[in-house]
Amino acid sequence: MREMLSETYERYRDVQDGRVADYIPALAEADSGWFGLSLTSATGHRFSFGDAQLPFSIQSISKAFVYALVVQELGHVEVRERIGVNNTGLPFNSVMAIELNGGRTMNPLVNAGALATTSLVPGTTWDEKWDFIHAGLSKFAGHELEIDERVYESEMETNTRNRGIARLLESYGHISLDPMQVTELYTRQCSLLVTAEDLATMGATLADGGDCPITGIDVVDPSVSRDVLSVMATNGMYEASGDWLFEVGMPGKSGVSGGIVTIAPGKGSLATFSPPLDAAGNSVRGIRATRHLSNKLGLNLF
Ligand code: DON
Repeated sequence: MREMLSETYERYRDVQDGRVADYIPALAEADSGWFGLSLTSATGHRFSFGDAQLPFSIQSISKAFVYALVVQELGHVEVRERIGVNNTGLPFNSVMAIELNGGRTMNPLVNAGALATTSLVPGTTWDEKWDFIHAGLSKFAGHELEIDERVYESEMETNTRNRGIARLLESYGHISLDPMQVTELYTRQCSLLVTAEDLATMGATLADGGDCPITGIDVVDPSVSRDVLSVMATNGMYEASGDWLFEVGMPGKSGVSGGIVTIAPGKGSLATFSPPLDAAGNSVRGIRATRHLSNKLGLNLF
């Protein structure tokens, strides 16, 4: 397996397409050459190659796992009703998607739905809510995750658009916490540091019906994993989710710092890290490497 990861690394390492995100100033410092690949099986075997131990902020990939924790608490019916499950067909930070949907969010994996999902996290104080998110995402990864305070501060100084989205949702009565507090919680969850290896373990937890294959801890129920995987399949790569599913054939979730986690249900998870992004905000090398490995390993679900 390691040979297959190294062959994939060599095949795509020289790809020059894509641009490193710079709308969050601290992310612009990423090296466009970073490239890591990691695979964790549902039985807990791990294989990695390249920059798979390099930490980076999880960004949008956190959305899938916070969604899992919220569905575990509130259940399939309530979260579906409040957050939605359909693709917006619009960029991840779209305001129009809210307006076109009568002031409601469309799914938990774009910014509006993610902010609304984070507002549903249990806890009476901001600290309790943060502890719930931090502990939950750490359980998925199998160890305690740290925060990149620089990325957090950098995004807090520039996240006027997310604050605007949270305020707009408040105006429609579709957010259950003070919009500024929600934006802070959401920005903090996006600043948690992970490696490609961590992401593969987090994905393998979903692949294994919610049990972390490294620690054996039962993080969420199998029915919750199923809900998360279905929204990842339809929405995980934003407006490019159809292209992704067509080429890769598995649920995946990307983040603006360059990570992608892909889940082979029942089998395991593959994670890639490479900062240059395409126009939709998805890692260029990550998409190509995952498509290649999906074909080579026969992982396409269809
Ligand atoms: O809210 C934001 O803009 C970032 N914290 C996360 C966005 C993101 O990762 C979208 N990815 N492609």
